[in-house]
Amino acid sequence: MSTEHTERLARQARERKDVPDDNARPVVEFDHVSKIYGGGAVAVEDVSLSFKRGEFAFIVGPTGCGKSTCMRLIIKEIEPTEGEVRIAGRSLSSLSRRKIPYLRRNIGVVFQDYKLLPNRNVYDNVAYGLHVIGASRADIRRKVPEILRLVGLASKTRNYPDELSGGEQQRVAVARAFVNHPPLLLADEPTGNLDPGTSIDIMRLLYRINRAGTTVLVATHDPGLVNKIRRRVIELERGLVIRDQQKGLYAVDESTQEFATRLREEEQEE
Ligand SMILES: Nc1ncnc2c1ncn2[C@@H]1O[C@H](COP(=O)(O)OP(=O)(O)OP(=O)(O)O)[C@@H](O)[C@H]1O
Ligand SMILES: [Mg+2]
Repeated sequence: MSTEHTERLARQARERKDVPDDNARPVVEFDHVSKIYGGGAVAVEDVSLSFKRGEFAFIVGPTGCGKSTCMRLIIKEIEPTEGEVRIAGRSLSSLSRRKIPYLRRNIGVVFQDYKLLPNRNVYDNVAYGLHVIGASRADIRRKVPEILRLVGLASKTRNYPDELSGGEQQRVAVARAFVNHPPLLLADEPTGNLDPGTSIDIMRLLYRINRAGTTVLVATHDPGLVNKIRRRVIELERGLVIRDQQKGLYAVDESTQEFATRLREEEQEE
């Protein structure tokens, strides 16, 4: 069957409302979500947010404001105390434990501490991500070198994590998260252990991934990165969303206001 034909059938079905239009749905929705941990800590409070397909957004705020909690709610590592999280329109509360691997298959995750397997080389670390989702050997042989080229690590394929710099290790982690081309990529403080130059490289990589169509959410408290990339910024303070701004800066204080004005001036001069 031709792609054109399949697409026409899908469109007709959508028009008849047999199947939901996945493209029109937000990829991630928080609907009045609160999370109170066992000890009574209110980590997020009445958060309502929606992320469209192809968005690039930062979640910022001081330590303990609830950034990682938001990430963990999205992969159903934890459950909200109140409210609902939906992924591609599907409520996670109605997703059984058994179905969680299907959810995770569609979400790439990058952490601050890379979480690589120390006794596997670069190739195997990335291949592992495909192996666990049941990819065929042929698929793995084709995709791993391709993604390692994309992240600029083709020459380090056989090296072990302890033979790599922090930036290189994080690129392996990004490769592993993206090798299956998930529609959603989460990065929790991906540059937390890196110097500014290397951080920019990692952020550029995430940005390229986003430009290829993947929705990317980055939790960070690195103002330099946020201010450079100028994408949507969601600011949390003690679990509450206190700002949701397109093309935002890290903070809305005087110095950054000044910075914004200077940037605008520079743009006009160009
Ligand atoms: N497993 C847990 N049990 C109890 N309280 C927790 C747990 N995890 C996080 N918290 C609390 O919830 C709040 C939010 O934590 P969270 O890890 O989401 O913050 P964060 O914004 O990611 O911080 P950081 O910038 O330091 O990573 C904090 O007050 C924290 O102490
Ligand atoms: Mg955190």
